[in-house]
Amino acid sequence: MNVEEAIRMRRAYRSLEPVEITGELIKTLAESAQLFCSCFNNQPWRYIFVYDKDILKELHSALSKGNEWAQSASMIIVVFSKQEYDCIMKDGRRYYLFDTGMATASMILRATELGLVAHPIAGFDPAKVKQILNIPEEMEVITLVIVGKHSERMNPVLSEKQIEAERNRPERLPVEKFVWHNKYQQDND
Ligand SMILES: Cc1cc2nc3c(=O)[nH]c(=O)nc-3n(C[C@H](O)[C@H](O)[C@H](O)COP(=O)(O)O)c2cc1C
Repeated sequence: MNVEEAIRMRRAYRSLEPVEITGELIKTLAESAQLFCSCFNNQPWRYIFVYDKDILKELHSALSKGNEWAQSASMIIVVFSKQEYDCIMKDGRRYYLFDTGMATASMILRATELGLVAHPIAGFDPAKVKQILNIPEEMEVITLVIVGKHSERMNPVLSEKQIEAERNRPERLPVEKFVWHNKYQQDND
């Protein structure tokens, strides 16, 4: 699979079946984040790969309503960082979320290439996640990446809207709505 194919194949599926989690898989996912660029090469990203069944079960209690489908995950990648790990510019720009997001996207595309679903979510209780995994208070838990294999069988816990998203990729803005050539122009709405 080339990069373009991985970009097109990647989907936030919610019907998951189990997949074997190996040390090799974790290594290749970690390395795909490791090689990504970051401001001053600060590498602000931190990951916990959770695949122990009992700890996964504990993490289920941190999922928000509507994310019950994530209980079928074979692994949950907990993504965290803190602003001090990365560039803070004199004018206030902070880069830790941007750089961690880019590295995590690289990891998601690699997982896609390996035939896996890697679905990031914001719907969880970060305080609970920190408490369960002993993550220090000053860290920000940015996302949980839900990992499994796409199942053809529709997950019975999905809502109508989620079933529709499973069948058809949610609509995107047309490119003209978010791209300008050479200069910004007000009237592309
Ligand atoms: C930061 C972020 C947070 C998200 N949070 C959730 C979530 O809590 N629950 C969920 O089911 N999907 C979540 N998603 C998945 C999006 O809904 C999904 O990517 C979007 O609808 C587009 O679908 P596609 O990725 O299959 O193209 C999240 C995605 C991102 C990037």
